Amino acid sequence: MLLREVKNIFHTELDPLYPKEEVNSFFSILIEHYLNLERFALALQPDLIVSKENETPLFGALSRLKLKEPIQHIIGTSHFMEMDFKVTKDVLIPRPETEELVRWIIEEVHGLESEEQNTKGLRILDIGTGSGCIAISLAKHLNNAKIYALDISADALKIANENAVLNDVEIIFLEKNILEDKLDKEFDIIVSNPPYVRELEKKEMHANVLDYEPSQALFVSNQDPLVFYRRITSIASNQLIKGGYLFFEVNQYLGKETEQLLKANKFSEIELRKDMFGNDRMLKGKL
Ligand SMILES: C[S@@+](CC[C@H](N)C(=O)[O-])C[C@H]1O[C@@H](n2cnc3c(N)ncnc32)[C@H](O)[C@@H]1O
Repeated sequence: MLLREVKNIFHTELDPLYPKEEVNSFFSILIEHYLNLERFALALQPDLIVSKENETPLFGALSRLKLKEPIQHIIGTSHFMEMDFKVTKDVLIPRPETEELVRWIIEEVHGLESEEQNTKGLRILDIGTGSGCIAISLAKHLNNAKIYALDISADALKIANENAVLNDVEIIFLEKNILEDKLDKEFDIIVSNPPYVRELEKKEMHANVLDYEPSQALFVSNQDPLVFYRRITSIASNQLIKGGYLFFEVNQYLGKETEQLLKANKFSEIELRKDMFGNDRMLKGKL
C-alpha cells in the first residue's frame, strides 16, 4: 500500500473521533516511530510503498487509537523538556504545563547562581514523581544538585528509575505515602505536582485520560481537594531550609485557595503564575 493510502485510511477511521490536525499528528508520530520516517516524509514521498510487514504496526496503532488509547502509550514514550520518557499505564503522561513549572525552577536556581549564592549540592525533592519527568529534567539541567524523588506507587518508581537510566542522571528514589509518612532530610527546594483533579471535574475529561491514566495520580475528593497541598506545605515548613523554595503545580480552579495555604504557613515572595493556556497553574513560595 502507498503511504498516502495508509494515511487516508487513518483519516477515514479517525476523523469522526479526533480533530483532523490531531490525526495528522498521530500519523506523523507513528511513521517516525515505526518506519523511521521524518515528519515531512509524506509530503516528499506520498507514493512511498509501505510493506505488509510495516503496515501491521501502523494498523495495530490505528485500532488502539479508535479505542482512545493515548498515542504515548501506543509508542511507549513521551517527550518532555527535549527528552524521552518511558510511559505506561502506571504513570501520568507528562503534560506541557509541567514543563513550564520545571523551566521556572531552573530559571530561579540560575538566578541564585548569578547572585553568586552557593547552589552547589542543592538538595531538591520532587513529591509524586510519577514518570520522574520533573526530577529527571531538573537533574539534567542543574548538574550540581542532589535530586530526590518520592512516590507512593512502586510501579511508578520502577518506570521513573528506568527513565533516570535512559536519560543518564542519578536520582535518589523514595517509596513513601506523603499523607502519612515522615521525612527526615532537609531540602533547599521542594516541588510537587500532586493529584488535584476533583471528582466533579471528571465530566470535563476525555476518555483517553479517564480510561488509561492512573486514577491515583489524578483524583482527589470534592470535599477536600487541597489535601496534598496542605500536607506538603506543612512538610515543607519543617523540611525546607530557611530561604528554601516550595513550587507547586496547581488546579486551575483552586489557585487562590492554594496560594492562601502558603500565606497561612508564613511563606514569602509568593507568586501564582498562569500556564500557556492562561490558567492559574504554578505557585512559588519562599520560606
Ligand atoms: C499528578 S501525578 C504527577 C506525576 C509527575 N510528577 C508529573 O508531573 O507528570 C501525581 C503523582 O503522585 C503520586 N501519589 C499519589 N498519592 C500519593 C501519596 N499519598 N504519596 C506519594 N505520592 C502519591 C501518584 O502516584 C502520581 O505519580
